[in-house]
Amino acid sequence: MKRLRKAVIPAAGIGTRLLPATKSVPKEMLPVGRKPTIQYIIEEICAAGIEQILIITSQHKRTIEDHFDLDQLVNDEKLLEHLGDVRLFYTRQSNPKGLADAIGKAEHFVGDEPFVVCLGDAIIQSQSPGSVLRRLIEAFTIKRASATILFQRVDQQSVSRYGIAQPKSRGDTSTAPAFEIQDLIEKPSIQEAPSNLAVTARYVFTPELFDYIRQTPPGRGGEIQITDSIRLMLQAGHSVWGVQLGEGEKRYDIGNYLSYFEAFFRFSLADEEFGQDFRQYAEQMLRD
Ligand code: G1P
Repeated sequence: MKRLRKAVIPAAGIGTRLLPATKSVPKEMLPVGRKPTIQYIIEEICAAGIEQILIITSQHKRTIEDHFDLDQLVNDEKLLEHLGDVRLFYTRQSNPKGLADAIGKAEHFVGDEPFVVCLGDAIIQSQSPGSVLRRLIEAFTIKRASATILFQRVDQQSVSRYGIAQPKSRGDTSTAPAFEIQDLIEKPSIQEAPSNLAVTARYVFTPELFDYIRQTPPGRGGEIQITDSIRLMLQAGHSVWGVQLGEGEKRYDIGNYLSYFEAFFRFSLADEEFGQDFRQYAEQMLRD
C-alpha cells in the first residue's frame, strides 16, 4: 500500500449556522484563542507526517489563502516550524452541492494515492499532536480498509446532527483499536439511528472513493453527502472501519455557536501567556 502523504480540507461551506459572524469571515478563520480554527487543523495534519494539503475553498474564502501566505508569516515562527516542508494547495468548489461534491474536487490532486480528509470546522484535541489522525491512518493500513472514519459517542438527542454508524458487531467499540462498519446513515432521527456513534470530521480513503462520489445522488438537504458515498462503497463490498475518540481526546465543532464558545473558552484557558489570568477572571466572573 502507498504511503499516506496527502490530506484534503473541505472548507467551502457557507457557515449559515454562525451568522452574522460568518457574513464576511469564513468560519474556518474564526479565531479559537489566538489562532484561526483552520490553523489547528493544518498543525494536526503536519504532526501526523503528511506532506501535501489541498484546501477546498469557495466564494468569500480568500482570507484562508492570505493567512498561510509567507508574507504574513514573518512574525509567525511557530507556524513556519509546524509547516516545515509541507506544501499547501488550493482549489474551489464554485457551486455548493454538498460535502461529497467538495471532496470530489480533490480527485486530480489525490491521483492514485490514499488520502486523509479533515473537515475544516472541527478541531481535534489530543494529548500528543496528530495522534488521533495517526491512529486512523494506522487502522486504515492494518485493516487494508477502503476507508476509516473517526467516531465519537454523542447523546441520543444529538444523533440527528451527524452521520451515524451501525457497527458490524455489538461489542464495545471503545476498547478495540478499530471496529468494522456495517452501515452509515446521515443525520437520522432518534428512532432511525442504529447507534450513537457519530462521524467526527476525520476520514481516510482510497482514491476509489471518487467513483462512488460520482454515483451519489443528492441526499439529506438536497446535498451530495459523503456519508452516502461511503454507504455505496459498503454496498459494493468494500471494508470500512471506525476508530473512536478515546480518553483525553475531544472534538470541538466550530460549526455552531455553543460548541464554538466552548472551544474558545477552553483554548483561552490553556493559553501559555494569559491562561492563568483568564482562569482567575472566569472564576471571579462566575462567582459574581
Ligand atoms: C458533516 C457530515 C456528518 C458528520 C459531521 C461532523 O456534517 O456530513 O456525517 O457527522 O460533518 O463531522 P455537517 O456538520 O457538515 O452538517
